[in-house]
Amino acid sequence: MNEPRPVIVAGNWKMNSSPGDAGRLAAEIARVTELPGVTRVLCPPYVCLPAVKDALAGSSVAVGAQNVHGEQAGAYTGEVSAAMLTGLATWCIVGHSERRRDQGETDEDVARKLVRCAEHGLRPIMCVGEQLAERQSGRAEATVRRQLTQTIAELLRLGSGLAADLVIAYEPVWAIGTGRNASPEDAGEMAEIIRTTVADRMSGVAADGLRILYGGSVNAGNIKDLMAKSDVDGGLVGGASLDPDSFAAIVRYWV
Ligand code: PGA
Repeated sequence: MNEPRPVIVAGNWKMNSSPGDAGRLAAEIARVTELPGVTRVLCPPYVCLPAVKDALAGSSVAVGAQNVHGEQAGAYTGEVSAAMLTGLATWCIVGHSERRRDQGETDEDVARKLVRCAEHGLRPIMCVGEQLAERQSGRAEATVRRQLTQTIAELLRLGSGLAADLVIAYEPVWAIGTGRNASPEDAGEMAEIIRTTVADRMSGVAADGLRILYGGSVNAGNIKDLMAKSDVDGGLVGGASLDPDSFAAIVRYWV
């Protein structure tokens, strides 16, 4: 029996908060979640990163970005490179389904972003997950396997591999922001599939250390059942991460 993997709870603020109020919100979240044993990460919008970084200095809550560009620098109007995030963030969400949907991000883009994260010391939280139609037609597993294998294939083509500190978030797209979470059985089964796919494509060692989060309408009421599955190592929390008490109630589950 392996050691239990330490737990991670990351908050994705999406396009919410402002440079004027983000610092206060982050400081309050840090205060009410100051509990040992759970790695906490807050991912505010880019423009709020300096305020959140300052507010969290001296706390054990880490700062993450919500995205990074796949190229190092250049003519990419409106984009932000990994080098620019150095000093502001130590984590980065990559391939969130809202970006796959709205910006058309592909598994190949995700792979390039993972390479940039590795170059600049950003710990990636890579998101995968199926659409509702894919789940309803029994293709959820194949979708997530395809996302993983295509990303890994592109990483290998780029002369890279999966980072040893990689975190993968299983986020069924139909569960995000809808109040409908995956059943604990489905979340556990998909987490196991993610771990075995990584073991098959990379190595068993990489798979053992891999942290897998569940995301999609996580709240204080469903966290216990979702985390009961041995392959689920924490949560990626959207809406509930904007409210200190709700986020704290999720983190406190582990205490
Ligand atoms: P949600 O978002 O918790 O609001 O469903 C999760 C996410 O998109 O990371």
